[in-house]
Amino acid sequence: MKNYRIAFIPGDGVGPEVALETRKTLEECGRLFSFAINSETFAWDCDYYLEHGRMMPENALEILKGFDAIFLGSVGDPSKAPDHVSLSSLLEIRKGFDLYVNLRPIILHKGVPSPITTATPETVDMVVVRENTEGEYARLGGIFAPDAPNGFATQMAVFSRKGCERVMRYAFELARTRKAQGYKGKVTSCTKSNALNYSMVYWDTIFREVAAEYPDIETNYLLVDALSMIMITDPGQFDVIVASNLFGDIITDLGSVLQGGIGVAAGANLDPERRFPSMFEPIHGSALALAGKGVVNPIASIESGRMMLEYLGETEAAGALLKAVQSVLAKGDVRTRDMGGQSGTAEVGDAIRAALKA
Ligand code: IPM
Ligand code: MG
Repeated sequence: MKNYRIAFIPGDGVGPEVALETRKTLEECGRLFSFAINSETFAWDCDYYLEHGRMMPENALEILKGFDAIFLGSVGDPSKAPDHVSLSSLLEIRKGFDLYVNLRPIILHKGVPSPITTATPETVDMVVVRENTEGEYARLGGIFAPDAPNGFATQMAVFSRKGCERVMRYAFELARTRKAQGYKGKVTSCTKSNALNYSMVYWDTIFREVAAEYPDIETNYLLVDALSMIMITDPGQFDVIVASNLFGDIITDLGSVLQGGIGVAAGANLDPERRFPSMFEPIHGSALALAGKGVVNPIASIESGRMMLEYLGETEAAGALLKAVQSVLAKGDVRTRDMGGQSGTAEVGDAIRAALKA
């Protein structure tokens, strides 16, 4: 029997609640599909920061390296640590393990209400491949003479050939796989080369080069502003979108609205080369105002857990879990407030696990 070592970092706010539902669901999948989830929990959150002056121990990556995968709930509590400090742990793991693909499916499941009138299960079925290690998140720059009238800050973005090529290739390979499954087979590049005359011009150049290797895949370029608009007016034209780190961050929050809200939006930070453990997390934050109330939607997290199962090669379990999630969503009697229901976090988790067993 396969035995997976999973590191859980529940984090702050609602993180622990959604991580618990995810762990229970993965364990249930293990019971049903004959594998074991051997989990270890790491309390690397803002309380850890208050105690130790850092978000994770110095050897955190060394510790995490031994795991098959990582699940992260959500991090951040500005009453304890400024966000740019607390979020450093997340960014350190992404960068330290070179998890260069941030995969964010945008799917509107049947029965899920979306406030966007163009959004239907037919039109909203795309994947954003977000670059996850460089771009605007390179953390290079400085604040100079902050208190002086001529004070200024710089924030440098890094776009390396290697960094662009590999994430674009991943997007094209994904489009090929999807095409074989009946999707369009199309990659849209999210750019802004009209204004960002170095970084995005280089991004475009590399996109053209990589695209030439995939003549079977349709391509399109859209400036991020127009792309944001078209995601709302005509979501059906997208299949795979490849985006730089910051643009990918922004358009996936936008995309979450198409798919019924941030409560259902899942994500995976992947090292496609499998040198290091990949990390799975909902794209939402710690939602401190809702923490401890048992009311948040665990589906984004459980869906991220499903992406973990796919990554681990437990395709059958992942397929069954998807069906379970879809059946709970389609039935609609058990849903959290963000989806217009009355149910709590645990009830939704229980309903999904019950559907799994059925
Ligand atoms: C996300 C989040 C993070 C990001 C924050 C918390 C640093 O918004 O995963 O989308 O910007 O990458
Ligand atoms: Mg974000």
